[in-house]
Amino acid sequence: MNKMNLKTSRRPTENPEIFKARRAKVAKAILGKDGDTTALLVASHPELIRNYDVHYLYRQDSNMYYLTGFEEPESVLLLRPGKTPESVMFVRNKDVERETWDGFRYGPEGTKKEYGIDEVFSIDDFPKKSVELLSGYESIYYRLFKNKDADHHVEKMLTDLRLSSGRSGYGILTIKDADTLLGEFRLIKDQTDLANLRKACEISAVAHVAAMKGTKPGMTERQIQALMTAEFYKQGAAREGYNFIIASGNSATTLHYNFNDQVCEDGELLLIDAGAEYNYYTGDITRTYPVNGKFSEAQKKVYAGVLKVQKEIINFVKPGIFFKDLHDMGTSLLVDLMFELNLVRGRKEDVIKSLEHKKYYPHGVGHWLGMDVHDAGLYHIKGKPRPLEPGMTFTVEPGLYVPGTDTSAPAELRGIGVRIEDNVIVTEKGCEVMTSGVPKEIEEIEAIVGRGN
Ligand code: GLY
Ligand code: MN
Ligand code: MN
Repeated sequence: MNKMNLKTSRRPTENPEIFKARRAKVAKAILGKDGDTTALLVASHPELIRNYDVHYLYRQDSNMYYLTGFEEPESVLLLRPGKTPESVMFVRNKDVERETWDGFRYGPEGTKKEYGIDEVFSIDDFPKKSVELLSGYESIYYRLFKNKDADHHVEKMLTDLRLSSGRSGYGILTIKDADTLLGEFRLIKDQTDLANLRKACEISAVAHVAAMKGTKPGMTERQIQALMTAEFYKQGAAREGYNFIIASGNSATTLHYNFNDQVCEDGELLLIDAGAEYNYYTGDITRTYPVNGKFSEAQKKVYAGVLKVQKEIINFVKPGIFFKDLHDMGTSLLVDLMFELNLVRGRKEDVIKSLEHKKYYPHGVGHWLGMDVHDAGLYHIKGKPRPLEPGMTFTVEPGLYVPGTDTSAPAELRGIGVRIEDNVIVTEKGCEVMTSGVPKEIEEIEAIVGRGN
């Protein structure tokens, strides 16, 4: 008989070698760029209180997870490229009483052993040890103003460091932006990243299909959210990558609507923007479909227009073009659609120049996608647009939204909001769509909505 798992300990979610390799890559880049007197400091996300005695479910900071795989709060990574020890962490101590309430902690010893970190200290030793470990350094990569708590400790550390070196020519360490540095690594996805992202997209897609099949007039938006949440967890997601947007009728014209508390009425469209998170990577899919399974003529006109735009943009994706080209293409095609629908008048150039189109299309064509739904990485480098490269992943999500209150729009279009969002990987020749498991053609949608699971 198998020995029973007493669950008195945990194991890292992913293989620690993945994170070791990432640290090695980042350390090498820092050494090459800044030499061996520049370190990197990354802090965990703070725990946040929701209400009395209740915390928001904890989710590690993306950069911290990217470099360590470590999922506890009150932890810090200090990377000292080219030095021994090179990777140093500070973590919470083991604490029998706290663990009785909140569960297992690795403690310094457990972290060192399970996560393959060179040296691990108690977080209580951070003030003293960090100053010792950074003695003689000239600069440090750190993201200021993201985490007040961490900023406070870093301020003290920098002050103590300066004091400890006396008037020996060392001033306050120069702070360089860690998020800009790490964003460049996170932007180009390797096979491990892509496997996680593909899985997140696949789970998200299954959940969207479940929502489509299960939607019936009279259901609440929250009931549809429940169908999706069930699929997320059944398929192995850890959580959602961002708050569900389940927007029926006119609510679809609110871009990040998340009340999700209305009844989905017969005759309305339902816009769902939802993505599952798997190993810290998230999908980001939007589909818009009729609650009763049949598009009205007006809904069909808007939907078919947005779908055509979305497919054209996806077809245009390839290495070498700029993300901005996709934005401009989206704007141009959607403004054409606005003319077709009698939403705008006059000359196309004037509509675009005066930003009049933003009334109906207020967002961009997409964004990098990865560990954060709006993922890390620059779109421009020192003001110049950057070309797309294989391994970049992003969303393509044109939309058109006619607020119900817009009396200048044709009456039949008021209250219609449509967004269609897929997730793509740039490949050598074009792109791979990771989210094609969710129908988006009109006939496919009409054949599936409300048909039951
Ligand atoms: N889900 C947020 C977005 O599409 O940007
Ligand atoms: Mn998006
Ligand atoms: Mn989205």
